[in-house]
Amino acid sequence: MKVIGIAASPRQGGNSQKLVECVLAGAEDAGAETELIRLGDRNIHPCIACGYCKSGHDTCAQKDDMVALYETIRAADVIVFGAPIYFARLNAQAYSLIDRLYAMLNPDFSSRLPAGKKIVIVLTCGSGDLSVAAPMYAYLKMVFGFFHCMDGGFIWQNQLFAPADLEKFPDEIAKAKALGRTLLG
Ligand SMILES: Cc1cc2nc3c(=O)[nH]c(=O)nc-3n(C[C@H](O)[C@H](O)[C@H](O)COP(=O)(O)O)c2cc1C
Repeated sequence: MKVIGIAASPRQGGNSQKLVECVLAGAEDAGAETELIRLGDRNIHPCIACGYCKSGHDTCAQKDDMVALYETIRAADVIVFGAPIYFARLNAQAYSLIDRLYAMLNPDFSSRLPAGKKIVIVLTCGSGDLSVAAPMYAYLKMVFGFFHCMDGGFIWQNQLFAPADLEKFPDEIAKAKALGRTLLG
């Protein structure tokens, strides 16, 4: 069982990354193989809408770090997707990845990825509340729904400003680890 964490924040060791790592730690406790992918460390260009992936090719024309990530995503049983909220939506790095998933859709918008993966959504924000996080959770469920992913859970926390602020919320840390331990079922 392979559980991958995709941490979209540009901040190394930030709150959303740490919450993703907690979910991965729980999954490891339960026996999963895990891998953390930090989008800030990867060179992932935005989709350029060239149409290559919809005209006789089953992948993207752009040969950047997304080439390897397509295969990592394809092989994963569970995807833990974590992002910060920026101006009431996701951060830019998250959208580059999401838009590049377009190449994993056939021209009829059926999925090129195997069905049945679980998707766990992790969101962090500052002064915003659930009215900001919930629409992004719904949006991400819609995105991963194109790939027939099953809802594996939702973790979110607000009042996170400095990278170490997550330590003030031990209950959410415990909840993320507990969720990770359930993912193999
Ligand atoms: C450009 C920018 C825009 C932000 N916009 C919001 C926002 O609209 N609502 C909110 O609650 N927090 C906002 N924040 C705060 C972050 O969502 C919050 O600090 C988050 O925990 C950062 O995640 P990270 O520690 O994983 O980088 C913003 C932060 C930045 C840098």
